[in-house]
Amino acid sequence: MATLIGGLGTSHVPAIGGAIHKGLQQEPYWKPFFDGYPPVQTWLQEKRPDVVVMFYNDHGLNFFLDKMPTFAVGAAAQYNNADEGWGIPTLPPFQGEVDLSWHLINHLVQQNFDITTCQEMLVDHACTLPLKLFWPQGDCPVTVVPICINTVQFPLPHARRVYALGRAVGEAIASWGSNKKVAVIASGGLSHQLEGERAGFLNKAFDLQFMESLVSNPEWATQYTNHELVAKAGSQGIELLMWLAMRASLVAGDGFGVRKVHSHYHIPISNTAAGLIALEKVF
Ligand code: DHB
Ligand code: FE
Repeated sequence: MATLIGGLGTSHVPAIGGAIHKGLQQEPYWKPFFDGYPPVQTWLQEKRPDVVVMFYNDHGLNFFLDKMPTFAVGAAAQYNNADEGWGIPTLPPFQGEVDLSWHLINHLVQQNFDITTCQEMLVDHACTLPLKLFWPQGDCPVTVVPICINTVQFPLPHARRVYALGRAVGEAIASWGSNKKVAVIASGGLSHQLEGERAGFLNKAFDLQFMESLVSNPEWATQYTNHELVAKAGSQGIELLMWLAMRASLVAGDGFGVRKVHSHYHIPISNTAAGLIALEKVF
């Protein structure tokens, strides 16, 4: 059976793609952000996952407001990036892991998740940036199964439902008939709001409590409605639902819990509180 080694959470901000492209990692604005990543890169070099399951939210590149699945699972051999208009480079295609995609899809439907299955799927900055941040050198060494959770158009799935999805994804990974190693990534959050009267809103106290809860009390955030989460984290801070799905995936299968490998928090990057966490599954 496949091995689920652990989970990673990171914020995604398009400007990060520009900073990487221009080599600005050591500039005063960017250094405190990029300095968070080497310990996680080192951990990944030691653990060497073969496959990544990526919880992320599309921002209008693949799914627009006219058709918005609540949960969508990629089942493509290859995922193309495309220009979103942020002025950052379009990346070469990422390789899929079709066998795991279909195993996941079958398991999720059996568990009563009415997902959308995508045999073609453009991936935006939310899917591409974590791969660049975690594997900055050369070609991406992992294959990818993207799982998109709607956090852009209400109604959004409740945190409790997202947690259940993550758990089911973890069960599916643990029962995948493969000798490959899998890591789960969450892309999104933490607190930020890009529009309206509260544009620029950040909530450090809430973010740090949320990150801590992922280690010691993973269901903590499921007590909140989405309106409460938006009030606490901002209208885009609701992207933290991805982190919840990632954490829930680590509950499933063999193993007793998680060990925090590393975490980092820096505000702001653009309008966003940039969080990072790496959790290793303990067997
Ligand atoms: C920003 C943050 C996001 O999560 C996003 O998807 C786009 C932009 C920002 O802070 O600029
Ligand atoms: Fe976003």
